[in-house]
Amino acid sequence: MAIRNVAVVGLGIGRGHIAEGYSAHPDKFRVEAICDLDSERLSAVGDDFVVPVRTNRFDEILAMPEIEVIDICTPPGVHLDQILAALAAGKQVICEKPLVGSLADLDRVAKAEAAAPGRVMPIFQYRYGDGLQKARRIVDAGIAGKHYLATVETAWNRGAKYYSVPWRGKLETEFGGVLLTHAIHSHDIMTYLLGPVASVFARTTTRVNPIEVEDCAVASLAMADGSLVSLAATLGSQVEISRLRFCFENVTFESGLKPYAPGDAPWQIIPASPEVAERIEGALADWDPVPSRFAGQLGRYHAALESGGPLPVTLDDARRSLELVTALFASAETGRTVELPIRPDHPKYADWRPQPKAVA
Ligand SMILES: NC(=O)c1ccc[n+]([C@@H]2O[C@H](COP(=O)([O-])OP(=O)(O)OC[C@H]3O[C@@H](n4cnc5c(N)ncnc54)[C@H](O)[C@@H]3O)[C@@H](O)[C@H]2O)c1
Repeated sequence: MAIRNVAVVGLGIGRGHIAEGYSAHPDKFRVEAICDLDSERLSAVGDDFVVPVRTNRFDEILAMPEIEVIDICTPPGVHLDQILAALAAGKQVICEKPLVGSLADLDRVAKAEAAAPGRVMPIFQYRYGDGLQKARRIVDAGIAGKHYLATVETAWNRGAKYYSVPWRGKLETEFGGVLLTHAIHSHDIMTYLLGPVASVFARTTTRVNPIEVEDCAVASLAMADGSLVSLAATLGSQVEISRLRFCFENVTFESGLKPYAPGDAPWQIIPASPEVAERIEGALADWDPVPSRFAGQLGRYHAALESGGPLPVTLDDARRSLELVTALFASAETGRTVELPIRPDHPKYADWRPQPKAVA
């Protein structure tokens, strides 16, 4: 098994990738280099994790032949250029959510990936952990039956300190608010279990913080399979929770309440009958624990690099999540139901942000 050399760029959540993810797999990854414009973060992370190369120049990372994987954890507006440059330099790429700021940019990344030796893995670490992964196995085994209805709540808390970081809270640099930056994880879990969305109706508002982007949102979704989903997301909850509940014909699943690890066990798995309970027991009989969050995603990433098989999270997954975001913003702006998929001729394909009103 090969140890893969990684460079982590951007040391906010990038520090978390190292502390929780790469450090959990010393036999699979070595963090050989870190890059950040902030020299205090560079020294602190470099010292804490004994990283040999520390630089504030991204081009220095691109030019290091010993680096195989570049893990991009910079603010969202920086992702596109860094992904394209890393692919052009022949690297494997990991990049934080939201991958890019529009479906048009996502398609540019997909085109660049198709022409490059490397592949791009978006981060959706909330998928990992034994709770959601068991639910996914039960669904994949065909035991769950018809899906009826799901509810997805993202009730978090963000205040002035969080929004004192200059790129946050602004349409220009964050591209969106609670729907794009925070609830994107639970909404990814929802489509990971249920598949494509057919149409959405959304309302958004900004009530918690004095910011440009939305911090409260609700939406009503019709899924391609005919079932219904309700989404609710706020940054003004005094107790932080993420909670997902899925009612299928043969089983109901409910996540725990951990705001930042909704994939973790235990999930309530409530079968409709003793026969279903038996089938579920059989499907889970040889269960191997799936580590939570970054450790889970990066473990599976390493396995995919070794086998050349599909990445655990792909550009198609990023597209599905950004397509939902685009539809939600388009609906909230127009007050209309929006159908998916969103194609290049859709007015929000190139930019989902509200357009400034024309001055008369
Ligand atoms: N998956 C998750 O749970 C999770 C959690 C937090 C943030 N994020 C995402 O990660 C990204 C970063 O968020 P954050 O909260 O860590 O932000 P942050 O502002 O705390 O950290 C970003 C870092 O990137 C550095 N940086 C900026 N431009 C750079 C450049 N050109 N080259 C090198 N370094 C540069 C900054 O100096 C800063 O230290 C965002 O896309 C955010 O949405 C994901």
